[in-house]
Amino acid sequence: NRDCYILAVETSCDETSVAVVRNGTEVLSNLIASQIETHRAFGGVVPEVASRKHVESITLMLEGAIQEAGITLEDLSAVAVTEGPGLVGALLVGIMAAKSLAFAADKPLIGTHHIAGHIYANRLVQEIRYPSIALVVSGGHTELVLMEREGSFKLIGRTRDDAVGEAYDKVARALGFPYPGGPYVDKLALESDTVEVLPRAWLEPDSYDFSFSGLKSAVLNAVNQHKMRGEEGYGPAIARGFQESVIEVLVEKAIRAVRSTGAVQLLLCGGVAANRGLRSALAERCEKERIDLVIPPLKYCTDNAAMIGAAAYLKWKSKEFSNWELKAEPSLSL
Ligand code: KG4
Ligand code: ZN
Repeated sequence: NRDCYILAVETSCDETSVAVVRNGTEVLSNLIASQIETHRAFGGVVPEVASRKHVESITLMLEGAIQEAGITLEDLSAVAVTEGPGLVGALLVGIMAAKSLAFAADKPLIGTHHIAGHIYANRLVQEIRYPSIALVVSGGHTELVLMEREGSFKLIGRTRDDAVGEAYDKVARALGFPYPGGPYVDKLALESDTVEVLPRAWLEPDSYDFSFSGLKSAVLNAVNQHKMRGEEGYGPAIARGFQESVIEVLVEKAIRAVRSTGAVQLLLCGGVAANRGLRSALAERCEKERIDLVIPPLKYCTDNAAMIGAAAYLKWKSKEFSNWELKAEPSLSL
């Protein structure tokens, strides 16, 4: 019964990451090169620049991750890589690197879904019990996923416009913060003792979908009006109003999804899972309702390759390998 060592590669957006994960849960290395500083000057991720930065760092990252894990290529059981969704050029860099390495070392290749990775980041901290509901909140995604058993994903709700992280970033920009602005809005909101109440988008009563563009527009309008009246110091109240609106809807819909599906666990994941307001509101509500809530540590919430290794392990167990035709799938569904 040999140990399973998966080398995982993630390059779907603006983080180049390579990890080695043992038996699906033990992270032996998880290197992350963030390109945020480069993209900040542009106010967001520039796809072409992202691809080029991935190319620059991928080889060193591969070497580094293997070295830090203290293994050799021979020890590997498989090479896993994010195949989508994400930026096509960025994904391609990781896929080419993973294919080359797998081919050269004669190891199986495992194409992995980015969101499955975010969800299975939770396996790095705790065993997942089924059925469970995952609330995926990131810069590119806002989704409620029902998992009836291991490896099965049913999308029961998604955003109809902006992802929640995207809305955070746009609001942050309107309030004068650099990209990515989510953490600034979070901090400002928690420190504010005034609140400017903003609308909540509940959509149809039975819907698990989300919408954040109306809220975002309400924020932009409010900021403009304050500016026109020559007012200052309105930032904290708006940040708090925005954050309260977002959190109320996310928490309410996630809890309702748990109740209506009989889920025994709620998993929070994605970059916005780093939001302190969301973490505490969800924790408080789940405690009250006796729902088992799992939130990965911050380093496994934002994009990283360890989560891809955790997700790929399940495919490795059932020998679901990819062939050399593996392609980048920018809008791959779960
Ligand atoms: O998962 P992630 O690293 O990348 C994607 O796959 O999109 O998520 C990045 C997003 C950004 O929009 C960032 O502003 C947001 O997560 N974010 C936050 C916080 N920390 C990161 N949003 C709100 N509050 C935070 N504390
Ligand atoms: Zn992500």
